[in-house]
Amino acid sequence: MKKILAVYYSQTGQAKNILENILKPIFSESEISVTFLKIEPDPDFPFPWTSDEFFNTFPESVAGIPCKLKPFDIDLNENFDLVFLAGQVWYLSPSIPVNSFLKSPEAAVLLKNKPVITVWGTRNMWANAQETVKQRLKEIDSNLIGNIVFMDKHNNLTSVLTIIRWLLDGQKGKSRFLPAAGVSDEEIVSAEKFGPPILKSIQINNFAILQAELLKINAVEINYPILKLEQNGARIFKIWNRIIANRAKKSYNNRIKAVRLFKYYLLFVIFIVSPPAWLVFALRKLLFHKNAKREISYYQNVG
Ligand SMILES: Cc1cc2nc3c(=O)[nH]c(=O)nc-3n(C[C@H](O)[C@H](O)[C@H](O)COP(=O)(O)O)c2cc1C
Repeated sequence: MKKILAVYYSQTGQAKNILENILKPIFSESEISVTFLKIEPDPDFPFPWTSDEFFNTFPESVAGIPCKLKPFDIDLNENFDLVFLAGQVWYLSPSIPVNSFLKSPEAAVLLKNKPVITVWGTRNMWANAQETVKQRLKEIDSNLIGNIVFMDKHNNLTSVLTIIRWLLDGQKGKSRFLPAAGVSDEEIVSAEKFGPPILKSIQINNFAILQAELLKINAVEINYPILKLEQNGARIFKIWNRIIANRAKKSYNNRIKAVRLFKYYLLFVIFIVSPPAWLVFALRKLLFHKNAKREISYYQNVG
């Protein structure tokens, strides 16, 4: 009997839904058992969010400061053959619940020396978060052997508008001028296609070529200009985080004021700066094709 642990956090159900679809072909195998483990912050984050609540998670997300979690309903002595970690990105970082799980003593036990597949349900910027997760998995001696990424495939500005409508108003479905938010239903259903190569790897207990097999069926699609926007954004987020942390030392009120300033900065960058920057990066991909290809290959792989 092979044992799979499927760890997840999801506010809207999107990441969980993706994970369940990936596992669908595996559920029907009688010699494999799947144990789900839900990450439960205590208290949980709100959904839908108010604007202040939404932007006020920025400092802890970027600094990687964990929140309190409810006790895990799992036997830490169970020896799993494969672990899935499904979650989302908050401010170009692993969401606070996912980060809190990874930093927990329980994760250090459950994931030690275990093969891990990360699964992301994001808007379109996940690469920086994956680097953080890679680092943490290394620290607790687990082996990242697969990564599958789901994104909103609409253009960057459209997906910003629809995700704001979804996360702050709770409206996911399409409206008069905007499409539905998040990963499309078709993509979520198609996640089933990742089940068979994973099943094969677990049956033969060899994950060496799994990511290469997953890439053949588009497990990680990279939009180069978006990747470059993200890398620049991640650098600037660190500076903002220092500014907010300094203000927060004085009073909570000062922290909130700095967070609101960050909100206006972010909206300015997204709607005014990022469109021309996108064009520059698209041009750069054409001019420096080999470099771009190398970088894309790095982020598609798990090494
Ligand atoms: C506070 C917050 C910040 C977010 N920041 C990002 C981000 O930086 N990049 C991104 O692609 N998606 C971002 N998202 C979208 C999430 O990654 C995710 O797609 C969405 O919240 C749905 O996830 P769920 O599975 O928890 O419902 C953010 C969401 C929240 C709530």
